[in-house]
Amino acid sequence: MDAKVVIENLWVKFEGEQGNVQALEDISFSVNEGEFLTILGPSGCGKSTLIRVIAGFQSLEKGKIFLGKKQVAEPGPDRIMVFQEFDQLFPWRTVIGNITYALKVNGLDKTKREAKANKYLEMVNLQEFARAFPHQLSGGMKQRAAIARSLALNPEILLMDEPFGSLDAQTRSILQAELVRIWQKVGSTIIFITHNIQEAILLGDRVMVMSSHPGTIKEIVDVEIKRPRLPETPEFMKLWHKLYTLLETKRFGENGRNNVLPGKD
Ligand SMILES: Nc1ncnc2c1ncn2[C@@H]1O[C@H](COP(=O)(O)OP(=O)(O)OP(=O)(O)O)[C@@H](O)[C@H]1O
Ligand SMILES: [Mg+2]
Repeated sequence: MDAKVVIENLWVKFEGEQGNVQALEDISFSVNEGEFLTILGPSGCGKSTLIRVIAGFQSLEKGKIFLGKKQVAEPGPDRIMVFQEFDQLFPWRTVIGNITYALKVNGLDKTKREAKANKYLEMVNLQEFARAFPHQLSGGMKQRAAIARSLALNPEILLMDEPFGSLDAQTRSILQAELVRIWQKVGSTIIFITHNIQEAILLGDRVMVMSSHPGTIKEIVDVEIKRPRLPETPEFMKLWHKLYTLLETKRFGENGRNNVLPGKD
């Protein structure tokens, strides 16, 4: 399989009044075309920094980033980020207006914008709320709209930084299933950050576990469990415990916000 994202010997340092932070130290890995990679790691280990560097928003100290064979250092339409916060939409535009506007900025023909926006709204089950404004939506619906907008732009790479982190457990579980379904349909390459071990296993083809200060890769683990994946199966639990141990969680939940036992999350 062809590598879609290649990170070579990446170093990122933040210099501050309280001293320097080596946020990332000599990170190298690659993500295959169409692959779903989840990144798991304790708070402050450099997950967001890593994804921001890939997006081109964060400057680096050393290292190289390739998309296919092309080296990149700046943001581009080939990479789209989805964040944790619910306020990613323009509040003065309707849901569909948010999507058609993004398509307009990307240069899509006026006649095609609405049809495309509707197609992606349907994918995230939000067609009934096309004419609603963001303040009329729940957190989960806003997140769906933001995901629909990102997908409508047909990014080659979707960079998701804890996009479901603020959702309640039920909405989160619905969106996890929807994201997998949509990903299987559109075939984007996805890099998805989470604190949640169960989420990392449910979604990823592989899980990259990071450790902190300095931020390094601890291990990249294959998820060889057939989809749809069920947390209560022995193979799921076995992998959950492996990742839990890798995260070096000393006390229950210490290193993660949602690291409760599989099946209870
Ligand atoms: N703009 C910045 N200036 C200075 N230090 C920063 C900056 N951004 C991040 N850091 C530091 O770099 C390290 C990695 O931060 P980062 O936000 O990438 O962690 P994270 O793994 O995403 O954490 P979380 O899980 O809490 O979101 C932390 O020690 C953080 O304090
Ligand atoms: Mg972060």
